[in-house]
This record gives sequence, C-alpha cells and structure tokens, in this order.
Amino acid sequence: MSRETLISDLLARIEQETGIVLSRATDRDRIGRYMDQGGKIPEATEKLPTALITLITTNETYFEREAHHFDFLINTILPEIDQFGSTKPIRILSAPCSSGEESYSIALRLATLSKQLFRPIEIIGIDLSEQMIEKANRGEYSSRSVHALEHTVVERNFSVKNGYYQIRPFPEFTIRFLVGNVFDDALWNRLGMFDVIFSRNMMIYFDASKNSELLKRFRAHLHGYLLIGHADDHRNAKLLFSPRQIERGIVYHT
Ligand SMILES: C[S@@+](CC[C@H](N)C(=O)[O-])C[C@H]1O[C@@H](n2cnc3c(N)ncnc32)[C@H](O)[C@@H]1O
Repeated sequence: MSRETLISDLLARIEQETGIVLSRATDRDRIGRYMDQGGKIPEATEKLPTALITLITTNETYFEREAHHFDFLINTILPEIDQFGSTKPIRILSAPCSSGEESYSIALRLATLSKQLFRPIEIIGIDLSEQMIEKANRGEYSSRSVHALEHTVVERNFSVKNGYYQIRPFPEFTIRFLVGNVFDDALWNRLGMFDVIFSRNMMIYFDASKNSELLKRFRAHLHGYLLIGHADDHRNAKLLFSPRQIERGIVYHT
C-alpha cells in the first residue's frame, strides 16, 4: 500500500473513531512524520496508539475557562436541583476534561458554597488522551493553567512546589478521571445518567454529523443541563435540547 493511501486510511479511521477531522495538508504531514519516525500503524482490531492520540488532540485548557458556566452551575443549576427530594448524588460530567482543570474548577466553585449540599456530589472527567488523564490525576499545574483564578483561591487550594501548583484533594466530593472516547457506547453504559454535562471546546474539531451523533448520546444520558463552549457548533444542540439564553451565552436543557 502506498504511503499516501496509508495516511488517508489512518485519517479516515481517526475521524470515524474519535470524530476528530484532520483535513489540512499540515495534518497529512504530521501523520506522515509520525509514520516516518516509526510510529505504529494500528491493525483494524487494535486501539489507536497513545502516541498517535497525543499527536492528534488539542488539549488546551485552563481553570475558570468560560467562567459564566461555573457561575450558572452555582447560581442556577444547583438551586434548581431538588436537594431534599432525593439522596442520590448530583452527577456532573466533564467530557472532555483534558488535564482536569474544568473538573477541578467545578470542585473549587462547589467548595465555596456557604450552605452544605444535602446530596453528595460526583464529578467525572473523561478524555481520549491517556496523557491528559494522568495529568488530571496528578493535579499538578503550571502558572498559565491557574492564571484566571483569584489569588486567594490559589493560596487556599494549591501548594506550590518547584514552580508547579499542586491542587488539594477534595474529600468532600467524589472526583474521578477516566480515559474514554465519547463515541464508545460501552463507556456510556458504564457512565450512566448525569444532571449536568460540560462539553466545551471538543465539538469544534468534529464535523456536523459527528456532533449530532455525540449530542444524541448526551441526550440519552442527561436529565438536566448541557453546557457547550461558545466556539462549539450550537445548531444540533438546538434541535435536541431546549435552549436557554443566559447572560453570556446559551445553555441547553433536556
Ligand atoms: C481543547 S480540549 C477542551 C478541554 C476543556 N473542556 C476546555 O474547554 O477547556 C479538547 C479535548 O477533547 C479531547 N477529545 C477529542 N476527541 C475526543 C473523543 N472522541 N473522546 C473524548 N475526548 C476527546 C482531547 O483529547 C482534548 O483533551
């Protein structure tokens, strides 16, 4: 098989499995370089190698990114959830969580609530990248990651070692990180139902049909609010959820 065909096949497989569209000439060059450097081309039955996932994913994130969603969670969603009608955990999914800043931003905000929540809280972060999930589990961040946090929040919740910011544990909540592909139905069966799904800045890398596939999965596993990034494609979300205009954007409800 020619090199060009191998590259095309691999790009098609990446798109089919992960949703990530790599259509620029520079993407072909990157995959070509990966192959030239001995990067593994997986058999059809094998998983995409970690090195390839690292190459194709954009993991940019930081604490309090698109902060209005965290405001909305604290000021509107939590008060709306009936805390006394049930003792079941309030379940929040961050998909994708990248290196964990989004999940921990939720925990940091929840920790500021003056009134103790009656129901337990479970925050689950999932991401395709094993490397990012390892980083999330380590909870060690650069100054750039924490730049949007207030100084007092950093002081109270991080210890600084060798220029890195180690986030404190949150024994008051359950926080879990899992490597997972949002298009994997077996993963969704394990994940179950959520009250809130944060899915920000991933759909920008997918095409409209993959976005729609993903939103259908969210719809089936959500009873509550979906928060998507301002740069994500909102057209399909409007077809499957009820949009609600908030001060700095649109959120969706089942
Ligand atoms: C730009 S980050 C967004 C992180 C965070 N939600 C934020 O807005 O700051 C995009 C993440 O999507 C993940 N990703 C891409 N395709 C995925 C898939 N099919 N399943 C799970 N995660 C995926 C990438 O690994 C990457 O970490």
